[in-house]
Amino acid sequence: MVIVVDPTQTSQWKELEKHCSFIKENSLQELLSDADRVRFLSIEADNLFADFSKQLITEETVNLLADLAEHMNLNAKIDALFAGEIVNTSENRPALHPALRMPPESIVEAKEQNVVPLIHGMNERTFEFAMKVRNKKWLGATGKPITSVVNIGIGGSHLGPYMAYKALQPYSLNEIDCRFVSNIDPTDINTNLHSLDPETTLFIINSKSFTTSETSMNAQTALTWIEKTLGENTNAIYQHFVAVTANTKEAEKFGFKPENIFSTWDWVGGRFSVSSSASLAVMIAIGPDNFRKLLDGCQMMDEHFRTSEITQNMPALMGLIAIWNRNFFGFPNQAVIPYSKSFEHFPSYLEQLEMESNGKNIDQEGNRVNLETSPVVLGGVGTDAQHSFFQLFHQGTTIVPIDFIAFCDPTQPSNSLSQDTIRKQHEILLANCFAQSQALAIGSKTDNPNTSLGGNRPSTTILGDRLDPLTLGQLIALYEHKVFTMGAVWQINSFDQWGVELGKSIVNDVLDDLTSAGTNKDHDSSTASLIARYQMRRNL
Ligand code: F6P
Repeated sequence: MVIVVDPTQTSQWKELEKHCSFIKENSLQELLSDADRVRFLSIEADNLFADFSKQLITEETVNLLADLAEHMNLNAKIDALFAGEIVNTSENRPALHPALRMPPESIVEAKEQNVVPLIHGMNERTFEFAMKVRNKKWLGATGKPITSVVNIGIGGSHLGPYMAYKALQPYSLNEIDCRFVSNIDPTDINTNLHSLDPETTLFIINSKSFTTSETSMNAQTALTWIEKTLGENTNAIYQHFVAVTANTKEAEKFGFKPENIFSTWDWVGGRFSVSSSASLAVMIAIGPDNFRKLLDGCQMMDEHFRTSEITQNMPALMGLIAIWNRNFFGFPNQAVIPYSKSFEHFPSYLEQLEMESNGKNIDQEGNRVNLETSPVVLGGVGTDAQHSFFQLFHQGTTIVPIDFIAFCDPTQPSNSLSQDTIRKQHEILLANCFAQSQALAIGSKTDNPNTSLGGNRPSTTILGDRLDPLTLGQLIALYEHKVFTMGAVWQINSFDQWGVELGKSIVNDVLDDLTSAGTNKDHDSSTASLIARYQMRRNL
């Protein structure tokens, strides 16, 4: 049973409120004049370094936030998460993404079954399949090996695998062209199919529920495209389509044989599924050995999160600082800016992870919460972002806390540039990253109000050695657990997403009317007039 305590009514919260008024009297410029500050306000976890010293905090803030977390039972909640207890209360399920990367001897039970052997068994199947495709042993219906893989999925069945594939492209097999189709906009699948050869293309239909309309429609379109070339009564569906799903029955109805279905499970949320078979396309691209390293990276961060003191716990502290910024300073947004072109899809992945998880207005008991929950998460890649929206970060009236993410070594694409050139450009990239956080924190006072920057704008810098599978795994688990920490303190359910259901259910009524003459269903006046305008103007 969940016992919900309003965090804002605790003495720890009140202490933090008092402490915040004190912090507001200080500036980052003053705070950063202390040379020891980084030592106290940074954490290193297995080579991944997080510098929190440019946040509007002191050591006392960290201690008070840790007191709050303790009072809200964060440690017990972490134990419950890892033990497979029902943490997703509205759907009566555990959230077992940490089990996806546990060693084989671990035991975690869901519905009285140890899930660890299931996960390892499924990893072996997906790895074996990935190797067949990589080794050209998986042939299309006309006997040619597969050279293109298209992941069809949306939300968690797209954003995580797409982000990971792009991040790890230097580790990918060049001979296999991986693509990702998510949108119901016909342009998405059309532009992709246009340059593909049906005889050598494999589709991964990636949908936990196997009922998501965009994915079902795109899967049907892909099947029709394949059958048009290869003929309807061939084995095309068996050779050119595999499914990744938790809903085997629905996949079988679509026409999949059990051996072409790879499992995810109802106890792993879509947005938490990047370390599961949902990343089959990534496994094919980078190979099982690299994917195992990604799992190792996740597991290292899982262990750090499970065993470290809150004040020394990177994901927990990131979550608590995010609460500090959101609830005590009232900052409504959070930006994530990777200084790595290969990592440019990480912010979109985090938008779903953070906002679908913690964009909630009721607590675990269904009562309206008494505080602000998830900030709006946004981002872009440095240095491009500096030349678009960073003006607002420096001088806008809204303060946006930022996570800068950078790597000491460059991503090494296989091309003809010399190591010197790559290093030189990489150092300019890093210099930009560090300069931005300094400018935001310290600002610069001039007599001209146009050129004066007030500074005092908080950021965290996360520095990894290089964007490799291990580090990517660490970063994935870091943010998963940051999100968990925030939900645990706010006492909300980070693992459901009821808010997105209403739009899905209205779409069929709207579609019925769009495709008929006049409107038959009940719509508000604005929606009815948009439908009428479409009916009048289509094909003009
Ligand atoms: O619409 C939201 C959502 O349910 C996400 O939570 C999920 O990641 C996405 O749709 C895709 O769902 P599925 O993997 O079941 O197709």
